[in-house]
Amino acid sequence: MLQEKGSALPEPDIADIRNYLASQENKTLLRFLTCGSVDDGKSTLIGRLLYDTKLIFEDQLAALEQDSKKHGTAGEEIDFALLVDGLEAEREQGITIDVAYRFFSTPKRKFIVADTPGHEQYTRNMATGASTADLAVVLIDARQGVLPQTRRHSIIASLLGIRHIVLAVNKIDLVGFDEAVFAKIVADYEAFSKDLGFVSVVPIPMSARYGDNVTRASENTPWYSGPSLLDHLETVDVEEGLAERPFRFPVQYVNRPNLDFRGFAGTVASGSIGVGEDVVVAKSGKRSRIKRIVTHDGDRERAFEGEAVTLLLADEIEVSRGNMLVAPDARPYVADQLAANVVWFDEHPLLPGRMYLLRTETDQVNATVSHLKHRVNIHNFAHEAAKCLELNEVGVCNFSLQAPIAFDSFEDNRTTGAFVLIDRLTNATVGAGMILYPLRRAANIHWQALDVTKASRAELKHQKPAVLWFTGLSGSGKSTIANLLERKLHAAGRHTYILDGDNVRHGLNRDLGFTEEDRVENIRRVAEVARLMADAGLIVLVSFISPFRAERRMARDLMDEGEFIEVFVDTPFEECARRDPKGLYARALKGEIKNFTGVDSPYEEPELADVHLKTAGREPEELADELEAWLRERGYC
Ligand code: ADX
Repeated sequence: MLQEKGSALPEPDIADIRNYLASQENKTLLRFLTCGSVDDGKSTLIGRLLYDTKLIFEDQLAALEQDSKKHGTAGEEIDFALLVDGLEAEREQGITIDVAYRFFSTPKRKFIVADTPGHEQYTRNMATGASTADLAVVLIDARQGVLPQTRRHSIIASLLGIRHIVLAVNKIDLVGFDEAVFAKIVADYEAFSKDLGFVSVVPIPMSARYGDNVTRASENTPWYSGPSLLDHLETVDVEEGLAERPFRFPVQYVNRPNLDFRGFAGTVASGSIGVGEDVVVAKSGKRSRIKRIVTHDGDRERAFEGEAVTLLLADEIEVSRGNMLVAPDARPYVADQLAANVVWFDEHPLLPGRMYLLRTETDQVNATVSHLKHRVNIHNFAHEAAKCLELNEVGVCNFSLQAPIAFDSFEDNRTTGAFVLIDRLTNATVGAGMILYPLRRAANIHWQALDVTKASRAELKHQKPAVLWFTGLSGSGKSTIANLLERKLHAAGRHTYILDGDNVRHGLNRDLGFTEEDRVENIRRVAEVARLMADAGLIVLVSFISPFRAERRMARDLMDEGEFIEVFVDTPFEECARRDPKGLYARALKGEIKNFTGVDSPYEEPELADVHLKTAGREPEELADELEAWLRERGYC
């Protein structure tokens, strides 16, 4: 009788498979991350965990042995780091670049581990990896002890809401399995971390490379009686004290396939909701009742934290994207000013006064840091005065938002209490924020409605308000051209005013110098003044170097549509230095004046100026005429 291929294998037992899947379903999930410095052995540790829990397939293992010979740093041994450090480029640099999420499971528990890079400039990835983790494995090289990076990563872990730490004192073999070395590191770390709010700190002496205390107790550390890393990860309780929290449902999008169906799609950020229960719209306070809870697998009676669902309401109320449906008796804050912890991870520092895009789970709004309250010193937690936050620094900031958002404090909710900051010009994520509390002071200040409006004021003057924003190097001719133009406008009966950098810096801005943060503040203030003047119905001529695109953009955004006219007075650096009307270039080039625009402080040319005046070979009068004609054609004068 012919045997079919494969029929010699035992029939799979369906019940067994069901049981297996069910046991998988019921296992709890632990999300953790590893952090440490470059050579602390993070990747080796994860590789070792996967290897010892038999999660590496044979073919991967063969490849690994090959690779270890080619790239590895472990001699003839298997280099576990190679298993984890996926990319060839990273292998060659010997560092891990991005956050890699790995899933593995043991008979007791399921795990998702975020492997985050330890290199100094990669705080961003660490913050990304930590945002959903319950526990952090902080690696320390036993030979090095607690390093600045250990402190930085621990502070960030604490800020990101992680309450459980494993202090993995790695490479213990390289210090001869010496208990005293271990005890000293543990004492150092505990002294440093006592104020970080960790619920548990479990120190484990280990050698990731040789497997000591990773998945089983090591004979080399008879003085250590605690759990192995895996034992601890399998049993640590990270959910204790997590009572049911109020219902939060950030609306990702409004699902309206036809006129009869209008659902709000999103993921339950906390709590739960059932059909027939009341909810309110966070921002408007409008109330309705849940009519249906729709999922891919049909309707449901209840939806719980972490579940992606579409909610249908009993009433037709307005709920836009970026809003939240919440429990009526425990509503989030709605405010346009708030205080937050910020972790900064851009090369370019955070500058108070500069506008960033603040993005929450579903909402986004322009925001500035109205006050940098302090920077945290990572060595002693001292609160230090600071004018900016540099790469990898942590601080507390007050934010002022262009419109209110709905949020919780991060302590109460890691989803609705967090945001990222985005650079508006490059779209890069430059920082992460953990909200502390709303600032009440703004809540009692309302716009006073005034009867005489901008339009009526402008009408009386028979003109269209405008802000002519002259930007260019010092000595480029901004003030000369602005002055000539104002004379013409004035002669024609227009109501005007010139805001000139040199003049405003004698009064309103006399406290500001020429550092980047001072220039940002300089422009912020003058833009606000220009806005008030435009509101008064004037044609405002602003003549400031205004070297940064971000602040010119901010100024434009402050004004009404069509009101802001950017005039680039384009005179090359060499020509300005040759003219040198105030003798400043000569001094700056000798190093006598610091932060001089074009010398040791940048000028970012406009990319899309409304008017581009190339001054080479032209007289200021001609240029002023040209500008006047431009304004007339567009009905400004
Ligand atoms: S801005 O960069 O903040 O917009 P602003 O236009 O107010 O500068 O002031 C520029 C004027 O200050 C220059 O025209 C020059 O006369 C004077 N000045 C003094 N020090 C500097 C400096 N380091 N850089 C540029 N301008 C300076």
